[in-house]
Amino acid sequence: MELDWRAPVDDFSGIDLVLLGTAWDYQDHFAEFLQKLVALEKAGIVVCNPADVVRWNGDKRYLKQLADAGIPTIPTLWLDDAGRSDIAIALDAFEAPRVVVKRQVGAGGLGQQAFSHDALPQPGWRMGLPCMVQPFLPSVVEEGEYTFVFIDSEFSHGVLKRAGKDDYRIQSLYGGYECDYAPEPADLASAQAVISALPFSDPLYARIDMARLPTGELAVMEAELIEPYLYPEQGPRLGELLASAVVKRLR
Ligand SMILES: Nc1ncnc2c1ncn2[C@@H]1O[C@H](COP(=O)(O)OP(=O)(O)O)[C@@H](O)[C@H]1O
Ligand SMILES: [Mg+2]
Repeated sequence: MELDWRAPVDDFSGIDLVLLGTAWDYQDHFAEFLQKLVALEKAGIVVCNPADVVRWNGDKRYLKQLADAGIPTIPTLWLDDAGRSDIAIALDAFEAPRVVVKRQVGAGGLGQQAFSHDALPQPGWRMGLPCMVQPFLPSVVEEGEYTFVFIDSEFSHGVLKRAGKDDYRIQSLYGGYECDYAPEPADLASAQAVISALPFSDPLYARIDMARLPTGELAVMEAELIEPYLYPEQGPRLGELLASAVVKRLR
């Protein structure tokens, strides 16, 4: 059964477990979304992933916490807002030819922009939101972004996401596409280290997105624990793993 997350709690009566699906508008209504998940839990419904996990994962500042735990991350400048001069400063600070700026609370590449010294924002430009600035990793275009899907902390499958020819973003919306990917042991270990560093145990599902740093190691781009697309086309074991993880929580 499928229900809109905005449906009243009463509409969920008789339901034991809620699996978050394609709630792809939560970014702009995060407090409201979270409130609903808490209300469902108060009504005795198992929410996957739980509200606490969603709260932690909704703000990309969790990346700082992962970095503190020793996980390789992309160097990041955290700002309450950004203007043209912040972008120029970031380009210099990272000694990078190009930087990307993205929302701290965001998904799907929403509001994300790339700048270089030759293509700075317009003088009056403001991001208008808490944001993060990172050096642009050329590996994302040259080799792609790696996804690792975990169910109950068990590796299900990998996906290599490549950018299309007209954009650096790997999302299909921008021309990106996916390939099967069987990770090398060292790369899988990097993803597993992210799972181990999460401040809670065994989320039902977790998607770890990674990109290669110039040093050759994989850095976490994001840990998606809210409503990730899990790439079932590339994951023959996904259905079975998901089903047993759900059953385990219903006992
Ligand atoms: N530092 C970076 N270097 C190169 N590409 C990036 C960088 N950060 C993000 N991207 C591109 O933008 C996409 C969206 O960024 P991401 O951090 O995953 O945010 P979202 O939550 O919007 O998916 C990534 O999948 C990748 O293609
Ligand atoms: Mg992403």
